[in-house]
Amino acid sequence: MRFLVSAGPTREHIDPVRFLSNRSTGRMGFAVAAAAAAAGHTVTLVTGPVALETPPGGIRRVDVISARDMLAALQEHLPETDVLVMTAAVADWRPRHTAGAKLKKAAMNPVIELEPNPDILATLAQAKAGRTFVGFAAETGDPLPEARRKLIAKGLDLIVANDVSRSDSGFAVDTNRVTLIGADGTFAPLPLLTKHEVACEIVKWCETRRGTQT
Ligand code: C5P
Repeated sequence: MRFLVSAGPTREHIDPVRFLSNRSTGRMGFAVAAAAAAAGHTVTLVTGPVALETPPGGIRRVDVISARDMLAALQEHLPETDVLVMTAAVADWRPRHTAGAKLKKAAMNPVIELEPNPDILATLAQAKAGRTFVGFAAETGDPLPEARRKLIAKGLDLIVANDVSRSDSGFAVDTNRVTLIGADGTFAPLPLLTKHEVACEIVKWCETRRGTQT
């Protein structure tokens, strides 16, 4: 199968040196890309700015900065995709204006006006056809109600519900505690696993769902 995986944060620039972003390190997405490649699948990895080496296995890597760059890269590669896994922590908002040169402190407006970024999954859903779409719901506190809402709202086949308020789960750690919730009725609370193990479970679910191993 052909996997398209998004990873990492996006950066929304205020000027060339300042940006809005989030705590995502890309580890979960890189683990999904690595697990899919190790299972013999073709993988394209579209990643925001992260400090990670591309995993082995012939993964095609596309580096992007902003949410709009990420959307454009994913749209370009979607036609040759069977399974999309959106692990990226896409910034929901971007500054309305990005300065071309570094803003002087004295000249900066203390209020930054924002405008919404596109919802990448919702945009790509218009061209979903027979593809399998997997999303993540990173929440502080019980992630299940929000995950169920997003599964339906974003037209996903699977959502990975993730409590990121725990110290052993979520951003910038190597382990994760997730529940897989599928549109097909899948409800699988997984124990504390490494991100690699969580990635293998996601890849296995996709293989089973599509009835194929490679
Ligand atoms: O941010 P939110 O919790 O809604 O993200 C849930 C899912 O939607 C994730 O898979 C994320 O990659 C995706 N997302 C997106 N476009 C956005 C924000 C999030 O595709 N602008």
